[in-house]
Amino acid sequence: MHAALQRTPALSTLVARVSQQPLSAPRATAACALALRHRPAAPINPTWSSSASTSQQRQQQRRRLHSSATLRHENPLGIPKREANPAPRIPRRAAGPPQKSGIRGVNHVVVVASGKGGVGKSTVAANLALALAKTSPEALGRPARIGLLDLDIFGPSVPLLMGLDRAGEPEMNDANKLIPLQNHGIKTMSIGYLLPPDPNQPVVWRGLMVQKAVQQLLFDVDWAQGGDLDALVIDMPPGTGDVQLSLGQLVVVDGAVIVSTPQDVALIDARKGVAMFQKVGVPIIGLLLNMSHFKCGSCDTPHELFGSSDKFTAAASELGLDVLGKVPLVTSVSDGGDAGRPVMVQSGAEGDEVRAAMSHVGDEVWQYLAKRPKANVGVRG
Ligand SMILES: Nc1ncnc2c1ncn2[C@@H]1O[C@H](COP(=O)(O)OP(=O)(O)OP(=O)(O)O)[C@@H](O)[C@H]1O
Ligand SMILES: [Mg+2]
Ligand SMILES: [Zn+2]
Repeated sequence: MHAALQRTPALSTLVARVSQQPLSAPRATAACALALRHRPAAPINPTWSSSASTSQQRQQQRRRLHSSATLRHENPLGIPKREANPAPRIPRRAAGPPQKSGIRGVNHVVVVASGKGGVGKSTVAANLALALAKTSPEALGRPARIGLLDLDIFGPSVPLLMGLDRAGEPEMNDANKLIPLQNHGIKTMSIGYLLPPDPNQPVVWRGLMVQKAVQQLLFDVDWAQGGDLDALVIDMPPGTGDVQLSLGQLVVVDGAVIVSTPQDVALIDARKGVAMFQKVGVPIIGLLLNMSHFKCGSCDTPHELFGSSDKFTAAASELGLDVLGKVPLVTSVSDGGDAGRPVMVQSGAEGDEVRAAMSHVGDEVWQYLAKRPKANVGVRG
C-alpha cells in the first residue's frame, strides 16, 4: 500500500496539497486521511526537494520504511533486514565491549553534549552544523558536506529545529539504508522522522531497545550519497546514560563540544558529561557557554542573567579545557528554532553576535579536526 502510494503521482500530488492545508480544513477523504497518517515527503524547501528527490525511476527503487518493517526489540526502527554490512550485534555479557569503528560515509564525528537537560545542546548542534558548513576549510576547495544526527531517542528536536518536522518519513536506498532528509544544506537523520507523529506517545524503550535504536541511527543511514560527509554533528540526549555509552563504545568520536550555562547546577552536570566522555575515550574539544548574557536593548551592558561567565571560565581552566565560545541569550535563537530557521541562516542584526560566536566555534572545531590523527579502524554501515 505504501509503495503504491509513493508511485502514484496523482495521489502524491493530492497528498502534498492536503498536507499543506491548515488544520482547520474540511474533513479529509479516507484516501487523504491514510496518506496524511503516513506523512509522505512533501517538499517544503527548494534545497531539500532538489537533493532529496531525483528521477522518478530512482523514486520507484526506494521503499517506504515501514512497508516491510518488523518492529521488535532487535529492530526498533523497523528497518528491513540488510544482508551486506549488517550493523554490529549487541555484545553478550562475556564478549566485552564491541570494537569502535568509523561510520561509512563520514570523515569526522563531533558530538554536542552536556550532562544537563535544556541548556541548548540541540540548538547549538543545529547551529554548529551550519557554522561548520559556513566556515569550510579552504583546503577542501569546496563547501564542506555536513550532516546532523539526532541521537536524542526520547526527545528528538532536530526535525523541528531544521524545519523538517513535516517532511515525512525518510526513504530507503536499495541497500535498505535510510536516506537523510536535507534542509538549509545540511543532511539530517532523527528518530523523530521514524516514529508516529503523536506527541502524547513518548518513547518508553530502555536498555537493549535504546542501544539497538542508537546502532541503527549510527550505521543504517546512507550519508555517503553525493560524497562522504566532511563532518557529522551528533546531538546527544541529556545525561550520561545508555545512548552516551553506546556511542562511546561503538564509534570513534573525534571530539565533543560540551554545552553549559553559567548556573552552578549546569556546571556540575557539564563536569559529569566531561568525565563520562573521558571514560569512554572521547576527547573533549572544548566547552561552550550558552545563554552567557542578555542585551536588554535599553543599555549596552551585557546582563549575565544566569551567573557570572568568569566562574565558567574558571571552571573550564580547572578542567584544563578551552572555552570555544560564549553564546548570548537572544530571542531570534529560540524563535528561529521553533520556526525551523536556525539563527545561522537568519540575517537580522539581533543574531549577529550569536552568528559571530558560532562561526568562531566552527573555525575552532575545523582547526581541531585538522590536527586530529586519522583513527586506524574499520568503518561500519
Ligand atoms: N542562546 C539562546 N538564546 C535563546 N534561547 C535559547 C538559546 N539556546 C537555547 N535556547 C532555547 O532554550 C530551549 C532549550 O534549548 P534546546 O532544546 O536546544 O536544549 P537541549 O539542551 O537540547 O534540551 P534537551 O536536554 O531537552 O535536549 C529552547 O527553547 C531553545 O530555543
Ligand atoms: Mg536537545
Ligand atoms: Zn540593560
